[in-house]
Amino acid sequence: MIKQKILVTGGAGFIGGNFVQYAVNKYPNYDIYNLDLLTYAGDLTKHRVIEQQENYNFIKADISNREEIMAIFKKEKIDYIVHFAAESHVDRSITDPEIFVRTNVIGTQVLLDAAREIGVKKFVHVSTDEVYGELDFDPSSFFTEETPLQPNSPYSASKASSDLLVRAYHETYGLPMNITRCSNNYGPYHFPEKLIPLTISRVLNDQKVPVYGDGNNIRDWLHVYDHCAAIDLVLHEGENGHVYNVGGHNEKTNLEVVQTIIKTLGKSEDLIEFVKDRLGHDKRYAIDPTKLERLGWAPTYTFDTGIAQTIQWYLDNKEWWEQIISGEYKNYFEKQYTLKGN
Ligand code: NAD
Ligand code: DAU
Repeated sequence: MIKQKILVTGGAGFIGGNFVQYAVNKYPNYDIYNLDLLTYAGDLTKHRVIEQQENYNFIKADISNREEIMAIFKKEKIDYIVHFAAESHVDRSITDPEIFVRTNVIGTQVLLDAAREIGVKKFVHVSTDEVYGELDFDPSSFFTEETPLQPNSPYSASKASSDLLVRAYHETYGLPMNITRCSNNYGPYHFPEKLIPLTISRVLNDQKVPVYGDGNNIRDWLHVYDHCAAIDLVLHEGENGHVYNVGGHNEKTNLEVVQTIIKTLGKSEDLIEFVKDRLGHDKRYAIDPTKLERLGWAPTYTFDTGIAQTIQWYLDNKEWWEQIISGEYKNYFEKQYTLKGN
């Protein structure tokens, strides 16, 4: 039997890493190729549990290096691409936008050219709800697949640009594709620069938690395992050329998220420190996932069950995040925040 080859870009990062583990375990008959440059956000220690499995392969490469990517595609004859690789942190895009254009825009275009050249069966582009911009606080307003793209940060502008390239390659060259646009993820292996893992790791170390502005900005949280299942469904069942929004109706203010974590860990709210707001800080994100639900997807975690599982995972896997926060990350943290407390 001929095995299907699935190339997962960014499979050493948070969501891509969870997806690689999901796919390697669920599909022994697929060969999974994890292609990743191993930037600050990528690490392979998370894959110790699967690296001996016959259907797992790792390739270190830069998606924006055309020669390298073309050679890999021709050699491996990839059937499907699930494209996660990106610069993903909004705050970093505000201080250093250039790498976001290189990786997220040029990198995606290189992959599209390689996919077209060898004729892949489908290109699944993992995008974000941030391409839609922001919503106001009216709880009845949601992002649908028809909401116009109005990205506000250099990160979301680079993701929107990549979405438009994927769309154009479908319209112009007939490249089979889907685009997914998910809300905020959380769960195991979330890099501790993002709100939830940053809060858990700092609260566990009795350190101040920086909350931007008044803490009333709203995000719509989805457990990463539910996102992986959504991408799997879109890969297999998504209608060619279609966009699917992914979200589970779990809207929380940032302050509510931080308070929940502090309470679960039995610590004091004195750890909260309100700091200068993020530039261009989007007020609210909220997803209408009806189209994906019609395809057969439903989330398995509520915010309460998901955050409990995630906090327990960070308690059980301290060595993973402690090695990150004790390294280069320290310099990033010092540059990014000036906290009055510790
Ligand atoms: P991440 O930052 O944790 O991981 C990104 C991965 O991409 C890392 O392993 C990194 O080494 C790799 N990478 C970066 N530049 C590369 C390059 N030039 N070549 C090859 N690999 C490279 O990101 P994440 O949070 O897991 O997000 C994954 C994708 O999902 C991104 O495209 C992001 O836009 C999208 N997304 C994220 C969220 C979220 O809440 N984190 C929500 C919706 C969509
Ligand atoms: O909506 C999907 C997006 O979610 C993804 O596309 C991005 O890749 C991902 O990083 C995430 O973006 P956010 O900017 O929403 O996530 P972040 O964890 O950085 O911030 C969540 C909220 O918390 C946001 O309103 C800013 C606030 N925040 C964040 C940090 C890091 C704080 O108040 N303090 C902090 O220290």
